Amino acid sequence: MLKLKEIQTLLEGEFSEIKFPISPEKLYQPIKYAVNNGGKRIRPALTLLAAELFTDEYKKALPQAIGLELFHNFTLLHDDIMDNAEVRRNQPTVHKKWNENIAILSGDAMLIEAYKYISNADPSLMPETLKVFNQTAIEVCEGQQYDMDFESRMDVSEKEYLQMIKLKTAVLLAASLKIGAIVGGADALSQKILYDFGIKIGLGFQLKDDFLDTFGNPEVFGKNIGGDIVSNKKTFLLIKALETSNENKKRELQQLLAEPNIDKKIEGIKNIYIDLGVDEAATNMMGEYYTQATNMLNELSVENQKKEELYNLAKKLIQRDK
Ligand code: IPE
Ligand code: IPE
Ligand code: MG
Ligand code: MG
Ligand code: MG
Repeated sequence: MLKLKEIQTLLEGEFSEIKFPISPEKLYQPIKYAVNNGGKRIRPALTLLAAELFTDEYKKALPQAIGLELFHNFTLLHDDIMDNAEVRRNQPTVHKKWNENIAILSGDAMLIEAYKYISNADPSLMPETLKVFNQTAIEVCEGQQYDMDFESRMDVSEKEYLQMIKLKTAVLLAASLKIGAIVGGADALSQKILYDFGIKIGLGFQLKDDFLDTFGNPEVFGKNIGGDIVSNKKTFLLIKALETSNENKKRELQQLLAEPNIDKKIEGIKNIYIDLGVDEAATNMMGEYYTQATNMLNELSVENQKKEELYNLAKKLIQRDK
């Protein structure tokens, strides 16, 4: 059985071998920078692990795995502009190292590269693979728009939040599994079970990302801490804090949301989260999604031993520090 470590080594090799044109330099340099810059490679790993459940020739899914990682990195280039993020993977973000126009255009080119890889499938599998990918790509855009819309709203419900993170994040993990399953030759039911498993781990994954954005160690997490607080992102933490605070605390929280001093804002809101125990609430919620995910995976008619690495990965995604 393939181990996650081996998959990651295989993927690093593949990514370092991709040959992008040399010129124009300002189009292709940022792509290389983004792609070979220490991401966790979760999505392509899911694709290969899913394919391997159904075929020994799991490497057939490599083009799709690479395409999904390129797509993910494209979303990050644009997301970092939208979120005004300066650091990713402990390095300056593309729009900071170069500029916004360069990050937009390099991102566009990465999306097109992603399509080239995704569509490099057996012709009989192409329509299905592209259908899943197209649906996912547009959903990610929808999720990103909700994420931005919510910044200026104070009445976002937990349900709306969950729908937003499902769209911006979970569907891509789910699609990575499903596409791996399709290329591996899985039946429709197995494809669906893996997709649903991916949604659950994806929800837990984004909850953890939100948690680390406030409570993580910046050197390990690789991004600036407090970015979500600064942009008034409606994370699970903020929604729960608004929901569970009494009148006084809520007033304090609302004042801090309008606080222009960034350090004061981050520190103050973080302390309120701790006072209210919303950090624990978030951790419990991740645990719930982990349980739901494993229950889902139990349903898959594949030998347990073969599924082991997916169970491990599901746990890692909510226990990670980066
Ligand atoms: C970051 O994804 C964007 C989110 C959906 C939270 P990852 O945490 O998978 O980023 P890398 O690729 O490993 O850096
Ligand atoms: C990212 O959510 C989702 C996508 C990139 C589509 P975040 O904005 O929370 O991701 P990070 O924290 O910047 O990686
Ligand atoms: Mg972001
Ligand atoms: Mg974002
Ligand atoms: Mg984040």
